[in-house]
Amino acid sequence: MSVAVFGASGYTGGELLRILISHPSFSIAAATSRKYASKPIYIAHPHLKGLLFLKFSTIEEAMNKDYDYVLLALPHGLSKDIVPSLLDRGVKIVDLGADFRLKDPSLYKRWYGWNHPHPELLKEAVYGLPELHREEIKGARLVASPGCNSTATILASAPLVKLGARKILADVKVGSSEAGSNPSKSSHHPERSGVIRPYSASGHRHQVEAYQELSELVKDEVKVSIVPHSVGSVRGAFASAHVQMEVSELELWKAFARFYAGEPFIRVMQKGIYPNVKNVIGSNFADLGFSSDPSLPRITGFAAIDNLMKGAAGQAIQSLNLMAGVEETLGLKLPPINPV
Ligand SMILES: NC(=O)c1ccc[n+]([C@@H]2O[C@H](COP(=O)([O-])OP(=O)(O)OC[C@H]3O[C@@H](n4cnc5c(N)ncnc54)[C@H](OP(=O)(O)O)[C@@H]3O)[C@@H](O)[C@H]2O)c1
Repeated sequence: MSVAVFGASGYTGGELLRILISHPSFSIAAATSRKYASKPIYIAHPHLKGLLFLKFSTIEEAMNKDYDYVLLALPHGLSKDIVPSLLDRGVKIVDLGADFRLKDPSLYKRWYGWNHPHPELLKEAVYGLPELHREEIKGARLVASPGCNSTATILASAPLVKLGARKILADVKVGSSEAGSNPSKSSHHPERSGVIRPYSASGHRHQVEAYQELSELVKDEVKVSIVPHSVGSVRGAFASAHVQMEVSELELWKAFARFYAGEPFIRVMQKGIYPNVKNVIGSNFADLGFSSDPSLPRITGFAAIDNLMKGAAGQAIQSLNLMAGVEETLGLKLPPINPV
C-alpha cells in the first residue's frame, strides 16, 4: 500500500517518515514541504540520509499523485480545506492536527478562532486513540489523531473515570518539540533551555478533547482542566491527573490492569515504580502508573509518552495499521532508546 505524508519536513512528519522507512506494508509515495520542495528528504532530516531516496514535493504536486492513504502533519487549520477532496478521490486519511478532533463544530470558533466548514465530517471522523476507539478506527475513512497533552491526560485518567471520577485536574509537562520546528522567541535556545513554566494555564485547547472523550467513555459529564508546563527537554509528555476520591491501591491496580488488558503499547508500572518519559523516548509506549493519598483523599494517574510518538506519529501509524487491516504493531516495535 502507498502513503503520502503532508507536512513531512516538520517534527511529526520526520517521525512518520522514520517509521514508514522500515514499515513492511507501506511505501512512501510523496512527502510535502514548501520550504524544501524538490530537495532530498535528508536536507530537512539529516538523520534519514541514506535511508530514503525521495524528494519533497509541494502539496499541489502531491495532490496529483496516486496513493491509498495520507498522513496530514500540517499546522492546525490547513487540513479542513484539503480533506474533502482527498476523501472524494477515495484516499483514507489520518490527520495529526486538530481540525477533525472535536465533535461539536461550535467549539472550533472558541478554541481555534474559525468556523468549521465541514461539520458533517466531524460526525464521521474517528478520534484516533486506539485504546478507546479501536473498532471504529478499523472502518474509518478519516481519523483525527489526538494531541499529545490530551493523549497523556486521557490515558492517565480513563481508569479513574471508570472508577467514578468526574473532575480531573491534569498537570502535563512537555518538551520543546511539542511546539513544532518553526522557531519562535519562546523556542529560542537561551529562552527555552532549563525552563519549567506553565503555558495556556487558564485553559488549554487539549482539555476540550479530553472532556469530549472521557465524557463519551462513561456517557456522563467528566470535567477536565489541563495545565501544561514547558520543560527543558526536547521530547516527552508527562501527565499527572489528580482526582479527589478514595480508592484502595488494590482497586486502583485492578482498574488500570483491567482497562488496559491486552493493549500492545500500554505498560502499567508495578506498585512503587512510577513512569518516566526517559523510558519511552523513541517508542510508541505509554507508561502508566498511579499514587494515592488518603489524607485528602487524592488519587493521581500518571502517563509518560514520547510526544512525537505515542503523542503523534507513532499513534497515527497505529491508526493507519488498523485502517489498513494489518497487524496493529507493524513498524512500531521500536524499543525506547536509553540513555537519553
Ligand atoms: N509536535 C508535537 O508534539 C505534536 C503532537 C501531536 C500533534 N501535533 C500536530 O501535528 C501537526 C504538525 O506538528 P509539527 O510539530 O510536526 O509541526 P512542524 O514541525 O511545524 O511541521 C509543520 C509542517 O507543515 C508544513 N507547513 C507549515 N505551514 C504550511 C502551509 N501553510 N502550507 C503547507 N505546508 C505547511 C511545514 O513545512 P514547510 O514549512 O516546509 O511547508 C512542516 O512540514 C500540528 O497540527 C500539530 O499540532 C504535533
